[in-house]
Amino acid sequence: MAHTIALAGKGGVGKTTICGMFIEYLCEKKQGPVLAVDADANSNLNEVLGVEVEETLGDIREDIARAEMASQQVIPAGMTKADYAEMRFSDALTEADDYDLLVMGRTQGKGCYCFVNGLLTTQVAKYAKNYRYIVVDNEAGLEHLSRGVLPQVDTILLVSDCSRRGVQAAGRLSEMIVDLKLGAKEVGLIINRAPKGELNPGVKEEIEKYGMRLIGVVPHDDTVYAYDAEGKPSVTVPNDSPVKQAVHRIFDGLTL
Ligand SMILES: Nc1ncnc2c1ncn2[C@@H]1O[C@H](COP(=O)(O)OP(=O)(O)OP(=O)(O)O)[C@@H](O)[C@H]1O
Ligand SMILES: [Mg+2]
Repeated sequence: MAHTIALAGKGGVGKTTICGMFIEYLCEKKQGPVLAVDADANSNLNEVLGVEVEETLGDIREDIARAEMASQQVIPAGMTKADYAEMRFSDALTEADDYDLLVMGRTQGKGCYCFVNGLLTTQVAKYAKNYRYIVVDNEAGLEHLSRGVLPQVDTILLVSDCSRRGVQAAGRLSEMIVDLKLGAKEVGLIINRAPKGELNPGVKEEIEKYGMRLIGVVPHDDTVYAYDAEGKPSVTVPNDSPVKQAVHRIFDGLTL
């Protein structure tokens, strides 16, 4: 069974950036096969990784629904609707050089999120046996983890900014992780975008108050910001950049 690692945290703290760098790290260390999962409806893990995605699970679901509404015969003769849907959903797997990427995406209209969430669950469960690692980028909060969208989570990387209030938000998420009894073997806190990579004593105190395990501090790095602004994949920042060195140190220390 694959080892599943999920990134979580509040909005805009750097989950997708760190997730992309983790996928790249596993591939560089030849730890594959790796399945990267973008479970954020507002998907952008592919941009961080520098990969084109043609179809998301949400797009395919929309396609099938539209064809049904227009009474178009899209299902080849002799194929059941379920088999056709399954065949189409396999199209959502993008094969990059060193890993595969599955993007949940979204569908139009209200009440559709449960559907794509459910789709993601079945697709991840279907593929799990083929991979050594499944790395999941999540939207802000704990929605996917709390709904049990992932069959199993072994490692949770909680990401926070370096503010006191940011750490408090991460602390509440860590309490929820305990309450939800997700069964993760390792839950670690990463503080991202810290000026000079240092933490204020007040922030350290707050981390201790919530009993979180700090596994690393990542500095704010203008190169990451510049790459993002220029539309260059964040994972391609040089390996000797402060942010890459910091995340690699963190990943080296994980029990995988
Ligand atoms: N260490 C860093 N130094 C400088 N900029 C960073 C760093 N980490 C992330 N960023 C930038 O911060 C912004 C938000 O990062 P990212 O998209 O990874 O956050 P997120 O937590 O995934 O956001 P969301 O909740 O919207 O999914 C991006 O512009 C990214 O390039
Ligand atoms: Mg993100």
